Amino acid sequence: MINLNDMKTFFRTVGRVLAFLLVGESLSAQQLQSPDGKLCMNFALQEGGKPCYELTFEGKTVLRPSLLGLYFKDNTDFCHGMTVEDTETTTFDETWNPVWGEESAIRNHYNELLVHLRQPSTNRRLDLRFRLFDDGLGLRYEFPMQRELNYFIITEECTQFALTGDHIAWWIPGDYDTQEYDYTRSRLSEIRQYMGASITDNLSQTSFSPTGVQTALMLKSDDGLYINLHEAALVNYPCMHLNLDDKNFVFTSWLTPDANGDKAYMQSPCHTPWRTVIVSDDARDILASRLTLNLNDPCRIEDTSWIKPCKYMGVWWEMITGMSDWSYTNEVPNVHLGETDYTQLKPHGRHGATTENVKRYIDFAAKHGFDALLVEGWNQGWEDWFGNFKDEVFDFVSPYPDFDLPAIRDYAREKGIKMIMHHETSSSIRNYERHMDEAYRFMKENGYDAVKSGYVGDIIPKGQNHYCQWQVNHYLYAVKKAADYKIMVNAHEAVRPTGLCRTWPNLIGNESARGSEYQAFGGSKPGHTAILPFTRLVGGPMDYTPGLFENDIRKYNPNNTSWVNTTLCNQLSLYVTMYSPLQMAADLPQTYERFLDAFQFIKDVAVDWEQSWYLEAEPMAYVTIARKAKGCDEWFIGSTCGEEARTSDIVLDFLPKGKYIATIYQDGKNAHYRNNPQAYQIRSQKVTEKSRLKLWTAPGGGYAIRIVPFS
Ligand code: NOJ
Ligand code: CA
Repeated sequence: MINLNDMKTFFRTVGRVLAFLLVGESLSAQQLQSPDGKLCMNFALQEGGKPCYELTFEGKTVLRPSLLGLYFKDNTDFCHGMTVEDTETTTFDETWNPVWGEESAIRNHYNELLVHLRQPSTNRRLDLRFRLFDDGLGLRYEFPMQRELNYFIITEECTQFALTGDHIAWWIPGDYDTQEYDYTRSRLSEIRQYMGASITDNLSQTSFSPTGVQTALMLKSDDGLYINLHEAALVNYPCMHLNLDDKNFVFTSWLTPDANGDKAYMQSPCHTPWRTVIVSDDARDILASRLTLNLNDPCRIEDTSWIKPCKYMGVWWEMITGMSDWSYTNEVPNVHLGETDYTQLKPHGRHGATTENVKRYIDFAAKHGFDALLVEGWNQGWEDWFGNFKDEVFDFVSPYPDFDLPAIRDYAREKGIKMIMHHETSSSIRNYERHMDEAYRFMKENGYDAVKSGYVGDIIPKGQNHYCQWQVNHYLYAVKKAADYKIMVNAHEAVRPTGLCRTWPNLIGNESARGSEYQAFGGSKPGHTAILPFTRLVGGPMDYTPGLFENDIRKYNPNNTSWVNTTLCNQLSLYVTMYSPLQMAADLPQTYERFLDAFQFIKDVAVDWEQSWYLEAEPMAYVTIARKAKGCDEWFIGSTCGEEARTSDIVLDFLPKGKYIATIYQDGKNAHYRNNPQAYQIRSQKVTEKSRLKLWTAPGGGYAIRIVPFS
């Protein structure tokens, strides 16, 4: 039966389509609906042959008519003078199984519209491919093979996202070289005013515009729509930023330039990445969306048996806090690889990666059932590693004299701990590529199956940007080559992920956002981990490095007055809410010794999942997720709370009918991230699939629950 609301929606939709057709040329207007019919996309050529699309969700406008197009270096463009040659529509429905993930089966179901365009004045052809899923839209430009457009240079892409009003946005500033910002929540009209303040001193912002932001961008309209703008399958193309016209609330794509100011070097046949719009009237659906993964190609690695999710510790936090150092000596003003004999140099005594210290971590990690250990500062070169545009800093195969690699390798093997290699490239890309084969071979010879790579500092060669096409190609080159060696990659400071881990599941992690290291560099906002699942994690898992139990960093380094802006239980919740197949327990063994009862959750929590349920969510305010471990009957729940305390209210109806024991790690009474972060309580209670839990979470707090069957 049709009710009044349905009728209203129907007439609103029809009216809007008619209006759209009137601005466009009715001959070329095309409509596409999502499989469930809730999303509707219209494509048309506007006057002058300008490609244009609009999007609605249940009759509400998500995007007003928004232009599409590209500019080329030869002063031609695909922004006007286009005609529709032909269109094709298809439907696709499959379920695929990721190697690792938030669930073991993912449905990829969409309706597709392919529009073949031609520009009579140049006789060039362009295809526009639209995929409409139940959770959003993907669109991309495709350039068929053609004599008229063989090699070409894109100087700008003009993909618009015309919003309906002054939405709330959760954003970080546009920047060609870093993503490590705290998020700002503001109206779109306030971005310009907040921009300066969101740029902190330790980051060199190279934003192109006072209203330029990065993706994934999270938005909320006054009529209750949650909208997420990002990209999928970023391959051989520069990373996209968004530039806002803050009078009309229209975002336009802004591609990262290379050293010459060009954007993309192309040869047909080729295509751009997907531009994505995830939409729902329920914030939880944004977290549940698999649109980004679905728009990537299936796995290209045949045998994936060597790719394993893992939980690890690291000789790391002590360096980040300044308690110890990556470097070995103060004596070397200028390290020249292969010419510096470190055995002749006086150690400064603060080196973290000593054999003895590494063995201490191995002992602790093994005792508590961890899979792996990362060691940073193991290799020569840290005395003079970045900031001076030195081409050759590290060779990735030369350990410091006090890091006995064979002894550590054998010790770790004996204790059942896998070693994770560290390759800080200092952004000297030529140097890394020169050494890459040797470095990966060296890893395999010494039993290392995973590498954490890093790209700190300006890119060498000079002038290239961290997110330009050339650099984007490097990150993927490193991942593909690693796959040849059966090596898993966790790249820090690399371009923000766009779902490529579906195709290359050996890319088990990225940082590519403000990680927990900033809790030792002045702190992050308490709501930071309640916004990341809506933004950075839309593209893929993050090596966020949770597990910080000590808030007062002065205890590690009297000169470091930074404070960890979360409660201890908030840190526990992150193992569930910040999905990653690679999870670190980032704090020091001696700190975990003080809180062994709470540490138990980190030991127990799974890292790979069969199914996930998104129970509560509001960007930057709270995220509550339940997950079932893959291959065993254990469930975990995490609830991460932002700045404001709240009471989480959940029903355990995702559990199969039965009796269970839930172990609850909850903020203690009066817990607060600022002045009482280590207050927590742990209790066990019997639950069933009917149980309802109301749990208080402190400002910057959270809870974590483990549920196991009880008989
Ligand atoms: C920045 C990375 O995010 C951090 O984890 C690493 O320790 C340093 N670079 C040094 O490579
Ligand atoms: Ca970093």
